[in-house]
Amino acid sequence: MSEKITLSVLKADVGGYVGHSSIHTDLIQTAKERLSNAVDKDIIVDFHVTRCGDDLELIMTHKHGVDSEIIHKTAWNTFVACAEVAKDLKLYGAGQDLLKDAFTGTVRGLGPGVAELEFEERKSETIIIFMADKTSPGAWNLPLYKIFADPFNTAGLVIDTSMHDGFVFEVLDVLKHKKIRFSAPEEIYDLLMFIGATGRFIIKSVYRKDGLIAATASTQKLSLIAGKYVGKDDPVLIVRCQSGLPAVGEVLEPFAFPHLVEGWMRGSHRGPLMPVAFYEANPSRFDGPPRVIAAGFQLCNGKLIGPRDLFDDPAFDEARRKSNEIANYMRQHGSFEPHRLGLEDLEYTTMEKLMEKLESRFEADV
Ligand code: F6R
Ligand code: MG
Ligand code: MG
Repeated sequence: MSEKITLSVLKADVGGYVGHSSIHTDLIQTAKERLSNAVDKDIIVDFHVTRCGDDLELIMTHKHGVDSEIIHKTAWNTFVACAEVAKDLKLYGAGQDLLKDAFTGTVRGLGPGVAELEFEERKSETIIIFMADKTSPGAWNLPLYKIFADPFNTAGLVIDTSMHDGFVFEVLDVLKHKKIRFSAPEEIYDLLMFIGATGRFIIKSVYRKDGLIAATASTQKLSLIAGKYVGKDDPVLIVRCQSGLPAVGEVLEPFAFPHLVEGWMRGSHRGPLMPVAFYEANPSRFDGPPRVIAAGFQLCNGKLIGPRDLFDDPAFDEARRKSNEIANYMRQHGSFEPHRLGLEDLEYTTMEKLMEKLESRFEADV
């Protein structure tokens, strides 16, 4: 047991309602009962259950550190219980993210997404948890860069002495399973060369230069785990804010620009990431466009005070309007790139079968 507090966010799609657009309240209720039990048994300190689109999000605080077997098992059992409810209601894709039958000490590699942070709770600990649906972990690269390295976004990088030294980015090569650290602002050109390739290089964590952890994202790629498409990763991101870290408003600011991300219909299209209030996180148009919600908490001795629905602010109306405009524009491309992803990134494809069927009709082009 550690004296520090750990914040664990584990998420999975264990059944959609209706289709892949949202979640049935019975699943939320079941998850709350399970985690309430875990509080009674002193396994966790506190919890909050929510959802973004069809993804069930378990937010937990505890003293067991990251990658704890008991915490992952608690989450796994909760997902399994919710998947049972989903099966009983014949909800769509019941149990879809639970890729293996048995728990093996960690949920890593089993399907659910995980973002965890262990830290000493500061005098006042302000935290934002971003949760997205119909997109992949690379979606956080651009906002994380802006929050922690772009002085046009984050005024504190320029005018707050405690942030003026910059931050360190830990970047994962998801294909080679390797990671590398870049120091900003000194190495931002190098950093951008990598993180601009959002399908392969993904920002895992950000640290202040004194070693304090500032942010961490879920980075597992479901498609790689299963060796085939089993649903978009729909990532989460935890960011600590204030007092020597970017302010809440600096952390939210990048989302005023609805950048293009991969996902949307059949995980095979580019579209804008639309920041929405909790109640609007139900992607239905062409199964999208991709959504992001921001849940703000103050921690109090491990208790989650909150959430505040941070995109429930008319200041983000313009980003939502622009998202719709971009969605219309992108949709008009139909099956053409760059709306549709490149052949190698498609989650659904008929290409292999077509090539086989039409092979004899291809002639030499001389
Ligand atoms: C995207 C997503 C949906 C489904 C689509 C088809 O991440 O989950 O867009 O891909 O609704 O679903 P199936 O193949 O289950 O009919
Ligand atoms: Mg789904
Ligand atoms: Mg989803």
